[in-house]
Amino acid sequence: MDLETYVRALPKAELHLHIEGSLEPEMMFALAQRNGVALPWDSVEATRAAYAFTDLQSFLDLYYAGAAALIQEQDFFELALAYFARAHADGVVHAELFFDPQTHTARGVAFATVLDGLERACIEAQAQWGISSRLILCFLRHLSEEEGFATLEQAMPHLARIHGVGLDSSEMGHPPSKFERLFARCRELGLHVVAHAGEEGPPAYIVEALDRLGVERIDHGVRAAEDPALLERLARDQVPLTVCPLSNVKLCVFERLEQHNLRQLLEAGLKVTINSDDPAYFGGYIAQNYLETARALDLSRAELKRIARNSLEASFVPESLRMPWFARLDALPD
Ligand code: HPA
Ligand code: ZN
Repeated sequence: MDLETYVRALPKAELHLHIEGSLEPEMMFALAQRNGVALPWDSVEATRAAYAFTDLQSFLDLYYAGAAALIQEQDFFELALAYFARAHADGVVHAELFFDPQTHTARGVAFATVLDGLERACIEAQAQWGISSRLILCFLRHLSEEEGFATLEQAMPHLARIHGVGLDSSEMGHPPSKFERLFARCRELGLHVVAHAGEEGPPAYIVEALDRLGVERIDHGVRAAEDPALLERLARDQVPLTVCPLSNVKLCVFERLEQHNLRQLLEAGLKVTINSDDPAYFGGYIAQNYLETARALDLSRAELKRIARNSLEASFVPESLRMPWFARLDALPD
């Protein structure tokens, strides 16, 4: 079995995927036309050519512009279904999708429109491909905690359909502590909690996410490597990191994939997973992330299997649902 076939055969969970970041330019243009929305680019080609990022903010500016094409419930359904089709081809058995309601409600799209479309795709993905999924509401950290509370209020009637909350958008200058009260409330409501930390922000943001937000996983977290005590803590407590290698290169967190610290994190005993973040913008879906990282860092098949196992273990589903996935994973050779 060649490496690409092996990578696709690994049953894996995707735990760091912004559904708006799976909007391919072709669909962006088709939806913009259908909805009569103007985009800042003239063509699909010009859009792709604009995807030359220098940092997180330079990406976010384009990502929010592209999301303007999404208006109707059907748009969110088609977006998520297209993601699930690709995920299925990549061996994803379970996906926990981030969505950014504030990006849409700010444009007058109702919270329920977003959620209804995404949820319908989740049900369809289970029926068509047997993929299970969960939805994680992300608060935009460049907005205020008060605005986060207003979004939580809109989510309240739908909490049975929302599994957890996260924190994304511009990291620098927006530390996790800004959202301490909001996350305490979310935990009280029984929601799972995660946060982006240590992508561009310092290791102290990871510590804050753990201590002040009570997060169960850290999204990205690669800058933990700069703090030996934090590395030791993350290893001891087996806090999952949802690492996104191609994203990190595209956003210049690492200059080249060969310089990525994923191997270092693994060898320090951390529960590392591989994910795609915003695959339509960063050059590949989850299997591409596994494959290119394996090649760049010379990861063995046993290490890839470990990473896939980590992703299944780090998912927010009960043990009983995971058993068939582990059985499939164990059946693969090293
Ligand atoms: N980081 C922060 N916010 C985001 C990202 C990311 O990688 N993708 C979408 N929103
Ligand atoms: Zn992300």
